Amino acid sequence: MARNYDVAIIGAGAAGMMAAIAAGRRGRSVIVLDHAKAPGEKIRISGGGRCNFTNLHAGPKNYLSENAHFAKSALARYTPADFIAMVDRHRIGWHEKTLGQLFCDDSAKDIIRMLLEEMRAVAVELRLSCEISEVARDEGGYCLSTSQGQIHASSLIVACGGKSIPKMGATGFAYRIAEQFGLSVTETRPALVPLTLEPNLLGELSDLSGVAVNADVACGKTRFNEALLFTHRGLSGPSILQISSYWREGDEITLSLEPGVDFAALLKTAKQENGRQQVQTVLAHHLPKRLAQYLAETARLERPLADLPDKALATLADRIRSWKIKPAGSEGYRTAEVTLGGVDTRHLDSRSMEAKSVPGLYFIGECVDVTGWLGGYNFQWAWASGHAAGESV
Ligand code: FDA
Repeated sequence: MARNYDVAIIGAGAAGMMAAIAAGRRGRSVIVLDHAKAPGEKIRISGGGRCNFTNLHAGPKNYLSENAHFAKSALARYTPADFIAMVDRHRIGWHEKTLGQLFCDDSAKDIIRMLLEEMRAVAVELRLSCEISEVARDEGGYCLSTSQGQIHASSLIVACGGKSIPKMGATGFAYRIAEQFGLSVTETRPALVPLTLEPNLLGELSDLSGVAVNADVACGKTRFNEALLFTHRGLSGPSILQISSYWREGDEITLSLEPGVDFAALLKTAKQENGRQQVQTVLAHHLPKRLAQYLAETARLERPLADLPDKALATLADRIRSWKIKPAGSEGYRTAEVTLGGVDTRHLDSRSMEAKSVPGLYFIGECVDVTGWLGGYNFQWAWASGHAAGESV
């Protein structure tokens, strides 16, 4: 005999738990199923263990989707202030780190504890280590065959995330359910992911591994100004993760190192005022020493400024301002923070996240073709889309 519920939710991640809370508060009987041993594993490891749980400036402009308008409704009806109010009610300390990014003072586990307490308060049932082998539809709703028996529910919310970090249990199961019910899935690819370099360039940059610098990183018309990190595989750091969501194979990216510094004027003035200084010494006032050394060395300008023609210094300044690099690829789903693309939003109602052609079937969170920038935007989408579905089921 199948157990009966109003709502079954696949996935005890950020989106699934928020949907469960919203539905439970409205008096629905709710069960959340997850194949993992613990709920909210990605919350636990997020933000370096402190969970960047929202962004004060979150709005539709911070998301990528084939339909730029789709996220508007859900984001407007569950805002960062709504989530902060819940965090405050649970007396979880938080702070703004930078650019509107809010982090827990103590631990990401506080957010998981908060969501579990909220779920308990409205009698949501949580089943972990639960494998789902089949999802079927009947006249009364949805029937799930699981390793813990049959579950029947009037509505089914699919909240089992994307493909990023398979080691943590990401399966792409949501896309298979969408396709089973005739909903298309847009092209998926790793996003918010470090970029790799071809071996020659990697060898040339090997001494820079571990060096971080503030940079403006552009790909086509999109640019981000945040830290950049040289690694033993290629390029990482927030500015690179951000641009990776816009980068495609074959594209060139342009780095502008310390964009606030006018290196052309700096080198010119330094030459006039003290021509005995070495180029790398002048650069190192504004760039990490190893990077300054690399730039002077590869330009073959490791000499006192007075011995160098103005043109050579101008060319060096141009390179620092507009350093073009063609990444070889990305580190892939192994390290990607999110999956770009997903369940095609054309099939979903933007107010409720319900499939337009399949009553009672909902998709929320990362599995939907809505992908946020780095900086708390992805959790805000998980909370907002989860809340939208929980308010509708
Ligand atoms: P999520 O992936 O969280 O949850 C899906 C759940 O479904 C999981 O519990 C999984 O076990 C379960 N599941 C999957 N397949 C299943 C199956 N077949 N059967 C049953 N259950 C199944 N974002 C942000 O805003 N701020 C941040 O600080 C960070 N930091 C961060 C760090 C790292 C290392 C990563 C990988 C990601 C982030 N993110 C982030 C992104 C953020 O974690 C992500 O956007 C949300 O977790 C998405 O929430 P969902 O609930 O949609 O999926």
